Amino acid sequence: MNNLVLYRKYRPKKFSDVIGQDHVVKTLKNAIENKNISHAYLFAGPRGTGKTTMARLLAKAVNCLEESTGAEPCNECVACQSINKGNAVDLVEIDAASHRGIDEIRELREGIKFSPTSLKYKVYIIDESHQLTKGAANALLKTLEEAPDHAIFVLATTEPQKLIPTIISRCQRFDFKKLNLEEIVEKLKIILKKEEVKADRRSLEIIATAAAGSFRDAESLLDQVLTFTGKKIREEEVKNLLGLVETEYVSSFVDLLIEKKDSKAIKFLRKLYEEGVNLEEFHNLLLEYLRHLLIVGLSGIDLEKDESSVVASLKISFTGEEMEKIKKQTEKIKTEETTEMLRIFLEAGKQMDHSPILQLPLEMAIVEFCID
Ligand SMILES: Nc1ncnc2c1ncn2[C@@H]1O[C@H](COP(=O)(O)OP(=O)(O)OP(=O)(O)O)[C@@H](O)[C@H]1O
Ligand SMILES: [Mg+2]
Ligand SMILES: [Zn+2]
Repeated sequence: MNNLVLYRKYRPKKFSDVIGQDHVVKTLKNAIENKNISHAYLFAGPRGTGKTTMARLLAKAVNCLEESTGAEPCNECVACQSINKGNAVDLVEIDAASHRGIDEIRELREGIKFSPTSLKYKVYIIDESHQLTKGAANALLKTLEEAPDHAIFVLATTEPQKLIPTIISRCQRFDFKKLNLEEIVEKLKIILKKEEVKADRRSLEIIATAAAGSFRDAESLLDQVLTFTGKKIREEEVKNLLGLVETEYVSSFVDLLIEKKDSKAIKFLRKLYEEGVNLEEFHNLLLEYLRHLLIVGLSGIDLEKDESSVVASLKISFTGEEMEKIKKQTEKIKTEETTEMLRIFLEAGKQMDHSPILQLPLEMAIVEFCID
């Protein structure tokens, strides 16, 4: 296998390669077919869900010289090829996260007046646009207001609420969604087929779960796994490589919480961390576990007979023994307490992204829950 990073190698080249953002694809293709293109787009959504990818697809599609492929870029003509190779001067990508944008936006305002050099449209992709400084954001707003017809802007952001409202109102907005397990597994299968690697379904599910909605993360995790495995991926190896969390750990942790043993729970967490358990993965599994604890605890559910999708997912996620354990736990905890635990740990998850010490938000959550 060559060592090209998977997420570059398998970045969608056509709209039809994009998975899971159908609402966006449909609307954009329509606009292109009807030559009814907006001059400013806002792509908002979680990381690794296809915003930059879609922006580049749009840039290709509006500039593609081939008529016969309809709204899809042909990937053959000079316009498509220059964009694919990354040497189209009329496609400008600005990463606001690393530059904060002052100079770039100034340059942009200078350059935008001139007609495109070789493409039909000049396309400006501004990634992480919420990170522009105030000055740069205001300059961008002016630019949007006076933009000539040959210019198209795509602002991508993971945090749209941080953009100034006047910018948002200038743009046609699309919200990208996190990908679900099935969608991620689908993409992993496509990649593995091309790489001629075999994997069992469970391994792919494990990778997809750990990716928590991000294609990029899924592809990086697969990269890691492929570095160590040969032409066949096995569940055990995947678990070991990803430092996978066993349900048993989560279950013991929940025991400590139910008994309100905060210092023991904190020690337990530290031990996991020292053993190299991936705490983000642990947190994901904890939420999944608590969700099921909540459902099993609701009165009137008959696990044997119930055929709803939650109960089905419960049966897939946990072994018979684990289910027994969950049932026992529900007898020791009130529904309100379970929801409280879920609320507190959901909140902790949001903070884990920003905390310099990964385990800190979890420790605080333990204390918060055990105190009241
Ligand atoms: N919807 C999707 N369908 C297929 N592959 C995808 C999709 N979204 C992302 N990917 C894969 O993940 C990689 C990263 O995607 P991309 O850079 O477009 O994400 P992003 O939303 O811009 O993330 P960020 O907010 O971190 O910049 C792509 O190269 C591609 O391989
Ligand atoms: Mg991006
Ligand atoms: Zn083309």
